Amino acid sequence: MRLVLALLVTPLLAQQAVAPPALDYAFFRDQVQPIFLKKRPGHARCVACHEHGVPPLAPLAAGADSWTEAQSKKNFDMWKQFVRPGKPDASPLLIHPLAAKAGGDHFHAGGKHWASKEDPEWQSLAQWVNGNVGTSLAAGTESRVLQSNSAGDNIHVISSATNKIVGTIEGIEVPHGVVVSPDGARIYITDEPRRTLDIVDAVSLKIIKQVPLSGRPNNLAVSKDGKTVYVAIVDAPGAVDVIDPDAGKNVKSIAVKGGIHNVYVTPDGKFAAAGSIPGKLLNIIDTSTNNVAWTLPTDAGVRPMAFVTNPDGSTKQIIIQLSDYHGIVVIDFASRKEVRRVDLPVPNGTEKELQGIQGSPSHGLAITPDGKTLWATSKWYGYVAAYSLPDLKLLKVVPVGSHPEWLTIPPDGKNLYVACAGDDATVVVDNKTMRVVGKIPVGAVPKRNASGMLRTN
Ligand code: HEC
Repeated sequence: MRLVLALLVTPLLAQQAVAPPALDYAFFRDQVQPIFLKKRPGHARCVACHEHGVPPLAPLAAGADSWTEAQSKKNFDMWKQFVRPGKPDASPLLIHPLAAKAGGDHFHAGGKHWASKEDPEWQSLAQWVNGNVGTSLAAGTESRVLQSNSAGDNIHVISSATNKIVGTIEGIEVPHGVVVSPDGARIYITDEPRRTLDIVDAVSLKIIKQVPLSGRPNNLAVSKDGKTVYVAIVDAPGAVDVIDPDAGKNVKSIAVKGGIHNVYVTPDGKFAAAGSIPGKLLNIIDTSTNNVAWTLPTDAGVRPMAFVTNPDGSTKQIIIQLSDYHGIVVIDFASRKEVRRVDLPVPNGTEKELQGIQGSPSHGLAITPDGKTLWATSKWYGYVAAYSLPDLKLLKVVPVGSHPEWLTIPPDGKNLYVACAGDDATVVVDNKTMRVVGKIPVGAVPKRNASGMLRTN
């Protein structure tokens, strides 16, 4: 009798409960495994014990500093049993090596490796448990930086391993935004004069389709599952076009107030944030319905944005730049309010650039993949500035050249790529040393750029 009841009740409960997130293999391989290999001062590495212990890690081959693909899969199958999907706080992997006073178990024979849940390693593990999907893919992809040339007719493809140009996408005049599909198979580019979304094959670098838009586009973003591309339409009255890239169709035009300059998908994939310059408005679109969920009026046009996340991957803050403001503005996502403004520094003895500022003295933001550093550009003074997160303390000002515009950081987090529109070059800054380590000549007036793992064969 009891069994029968249990059978009847279980499907009902299962329907009511939210399905736990699936654990992603690529994220485990590329972002969890390095934690097992990392040497922390005063501590033995996880691998040093768990190669022989329980739960087991595959033994590294003599002299190897990482696992093979087959070993990584074995590790994944083993270690996923030591987490509870969607519940970082109840996952042995996260609480066994966590200090007891921070919510961890009281004893782990391997010691306490994280003093608090704020530790970036702990947060990476939490993201995995919460179903975050890896950004890098298996064999056949390589890390690339895409640099669009806003006064040119092409986009340069740069290898982030060598900082050399490895290809060019031709035949798009005044390309605006560029993004990489999550599977690395395609590049999406907004084509301003033709008013199309151009779909480019990542291997051949040829345009395979041009999807008509509802007006002149600016920037664009792709959903986490790769099934939707959101395009900012700058023509009045303003819209965000919703494109199905597989079908090559414009499926919906979301009405918003005022032409849209930039659109982003939040790191958890749940929202699209679209900023209007003439409408002085930030629009937050729910990606499950593709309707506007809420808006926030601002005192000036909304320009680039960057996203600060909570340990569960949800959005904590949106950092935005505004027209005619030389600084950054922090929006608290939960309360939907501006909570802070930080003016960018004015360096001594540096002449202020006044030509062609186009209403935005500061136009470019990027956050390192570990979530610890925010970079912002100053077009007035030709630098990029690094700030610590979440406290926004100024760490360093790095002069880079003329008219630094857009910024991108490839998934490995090593370097920052700065489009210097006035120098027709992409400048490379090392994220650790915060020094300029390269300058790559590109096309005419480079502005927007992007990075990601792209298929190469
Ligand atoms: C000095 C050796 C040593 C190191 C270093 C070490 N561990 Fe352990 N770990 C052990 C031993 C021994 C056990 C079994 C006894 C126990 O649970 O404390 C264990 C148990 C575990 C468990 C099992 C918990 C359970 O519920 O059964 C997990 C998960 C774990 N370790 C993760 C890690 C991670 C992650 C690291 C690195 C951040 C690490 N360990 C570093 C020795 C080590």
